[in-house]
Amino acid sequence: MITPPPGAGKNLAPKIDGVPNHVAIIMDGNGRWANSRGLPRTEGHRAGEYALMDTIAGALEIGVKHLTVYAFSTENWKRSPKEVSFLMGYSRDVLRRRRDELNEWGVGIHWWGRRPRLWKSVIDELEVAQELTASNSKLHFNMAVNYGGRAEIADAMRQIAGEVAEGSLKPKGITEDTVRRRLYAPDSPDVDLLIRTGGEQRISNFLLWQCAYAEFAFNPVPWPEYGREELWNDILSFTGRERRFGGAIDKVAPQ
Ligand code: IPE
Ligand code: IPE
Ligand code: MG
Repeated sequence: MITPPPGAGKNLAPKIDGVPNHVAIIMDGNGRWANSRGLPRTEGHRAGEYALMDTIAGALEIGVKHLTVYAFSTENWKRSPKEVSFLMGYSRDVLRRRRDELNEWGVGIHWWGRRPRLWKSVIDELEVAQELTASNSKLHFNMAVNYGGRAEIADAMRQIAGEVAEGSLKPKGITEDTVRRRLYAPDSPDVDLLIRTGGEQRISNFLLWQCAYAEFAFNPVPWPEYGREELWNDILSFTGRERRFGGAIDKVAPQ
């Protein structure tokens, strides 16, 4: 299905002050959406492609700079072989089908995740898309594929332990920044707004480090029905929140 590109004029983006710099999305509810229509779960995943493209277009229109989406978790291998194969093949095909369109939109595609177990054909497509769009910076679009927050932190710890063992890093010198520098994308900013579609209210091992001070939006809409207008509404609700990062402002003057 052809997605109206950013700025197509069909849905005018609202003017929003304080748009979050980094939005992360747990694209959930595909299987339930399909089953409730008498369709196999895989049809829900298929319907998610349009939602993804429309959401990316909406992020561009409103000025989000970093968008990270959860496409396949390190725990999703537990699903039936049929669903896992579908998800692998489908990720590969979506990347192949959409990379030129995303490139034209000025989107830089980046992969966050672990190599082991991930299909080589998926890694190849991710790398082709990364290379093709490497100089784009209108929107950094990060695809979390075979991603787990604990796996990411464990991978960073393994690297740190190796550096300590070879003597290039001293235990005393390990800070939060030492860990952050060894995550999959050290230069990516923390998440400002984490959206989960599909009605569940949990993090499911997504961006555990980067979400330390994220605001959460749990949207009951299943992912296949999500799109730019839902994104703008979730962002509008975010802009009304007071973020304190552990600090406090005394709004009543001392007596
Ligand atoms: C999210 O939708 C997509 C992936 C996990 C890849 P689900 O497949 O989890 O759909 P529900 O949550 O079972 O409805
Ligand atoms: C999280 O959703 C993973 C993705 C959206 C890729 P899940 O559907 O796998 O999470 P749980 O099992 O409901 O926690
Ligand atoms: Mg789910």
